[in-house]
Amino acid sequence: MASFYEVAKQHPKRAAAQTLMHPVAEKYDLGDYFYLDVWPFGWPMLIILNTDMMNEIEVKTSLPKHPATDQVIRHTGGPGNLVSAEGQTWKRWRSAFNPGFSASHLMTLVPAIVDQCSIFCNTLTRHAERQDLFRMDPETTKLTIDIIGKVALDLDFRSQKEPNELVDTFVNQLRWMNIGVQPSIQSFLDFRAPIMRRYNTWKMDRYITKRLTERVATRTSRGKGKAVIDLALESYLKDVQNSGQSVDDVKTLPKDFTEAAISNLKVFIFAGHDTTSATICYTYYYLSRNPTVLAKVRRELDEVFGTDPTAVGEHLKRDAYLLNKLEYLLLVIREVLRLQTPASSIRTGYKGFVLRDPRTGEAIPADDNFLIYPTGVGFGRSKQYWGDADVFRPERFLETYNKDAWLPFSRGIRNCIGQELAMIEMRIILAMTLRSFDFHEAFDELEKLKGDGSGYPSDTTGVQEQFGEPAYQVQVLTAKPREGMPCRVSLRKQ
Ligand code: HEM
Repeated sequence: MASFYEVAKQHPKRAAAQTLMHPVAEKYDLGDYFYLDVWPFGWPMLIILNTDMMNEIEVKTSLPKHPATDQVIRHTGGPGNLVSAEGQTWKRWRSAFNPGFSASHLMTLVPAIVDQCSIFCNTLTRHAERQDLFRMDPETTKLTIDIIGKVALDLDFRSQKEPNELVDTFVNQLRWMNIGVQPSIQSFLDFRAPIMRRYNTWKMDRYITKRLTERVATRTSRGKGKAVIDLALESYLKDVQNSGQSVDDVKTLPKDFTEAAISNLKVFIFAGHDTTSATICYTYYYLSRNPTVLAKVRRELDEVFGTDPTAVGEHLKRDAYLLNKLEYLLLVIREVLRLQTPASSIRTGYKGFVLRDPRTGEAIPADDNFLIYPTGVGFGRSKQYWGDADVFRPERFLETYNKDAWLPFSRGIRNCIGQELAMIEMRIILAMTLRSFDFHEAFDELEKLKGDGSGYPSDTTGVQEQFGEPAYQVQVLTAKPREGMPCRVSLRKQ
């Protein structure tokens, strides 16, 4: 604990704990795995920064998720959700939802994503015209939550344009959570927190139950769909059919199915927007600091879509597969995800489970006492795997590298079901904005945003940078850009 604190105090006080693991390893020369005991603040951990060991626990064995996963996701998911479920429950839902994430189905969503992104372009235009200082993450959050609304519930939340009950409740819920590894003492002691979390859960569940009821009632007239809600429904109707009953008789849904469907829909809405919105912010940030890379991306966009930046959406609506031609942009996104990996998969061992040191064969006890933590951002910033690890250099993916050290979506059977969707939507959003707008990070103006009602602390005290970046990660459930990425945008001069 004391050694961890020694390292932590060199970093910004709100820096996400996941960003401190590889600095701890470096400072104490611990190699690429080590035990970390943070008692009484957390579980004993086995930190893993070695690809062979990561493969052992995520791919070869796929150890169970650590109970901390459920504790973190509980208030934005619910019991039995796909992220924290295990065994048959997980298997059933994963196979039910897989068809909603097939490449061919995802391409049919491109026009709807383009429409949401057009609204986002209007928002950026307004900011550019007003020349105002604002936080980017709340804007990209509304955009990505509207996109996942379509994918999960087949609904347009319209949160980019007006308040939406479900979206507002979700955002409010995050504020009432004692999140992750850095909850504040005040938030632990706030007696309102459990009440508000319960109230928000009740509101979210009511909203989704209403949508489920509508979906059952309109099933025959609408036909089968591939929105997550429809796939959940179809999986239940399949059970009905298998039990010899007629699906036409189903007018209401049983409580246990409704609860499970709500848990999953909530987790999709959460997991389906949070990390994507952060990655978009970070991509704007890195491109603004790397003009040569930005120029190269813009050249690629000119080549694929022609020189009119406002025509990208129309081109994509006609031919969604143009996205596959954005090869350099894909490398850029991969590089952003390497440096700013938002989440990792945390696992637990079982009695008698031992890992082996891949070099010496030595047994490393890793039973169910341990939170086994292959730290995504630690892999991404590992000098062993990447050399100039802290440098933003998308071309590195054209060179020989250890593919297993790129870990933003986790690996093995529990990898991210939404990774293709995320890559599609990020390419669309960036393709539609990068040639119309110039982005300028504005951390040096943070003071001016104090008291803007956003809930961000606007904290300018203490260490202000990590790994040479003012936009370091803070833990808000997954890791997000500090202070919601203060910025300005301007209309691009041709
Ligand atoms: C940049 C964007 C994204 C990143 C970096 C990301 C990352 C991850 C990671 C690291 C996991 C493993 C979590 C764990 O083991 O506890 C995961 C799982 C998951 N993700 Fe994503 N994700 C992204 C986008 C999405 C999107 C767009 C969706 C929804 C459409 C989504 C839905 C899920 C779900 C449901 C799981 C659980 C899968 C399972 O266990 O079967 N994610 N994601």
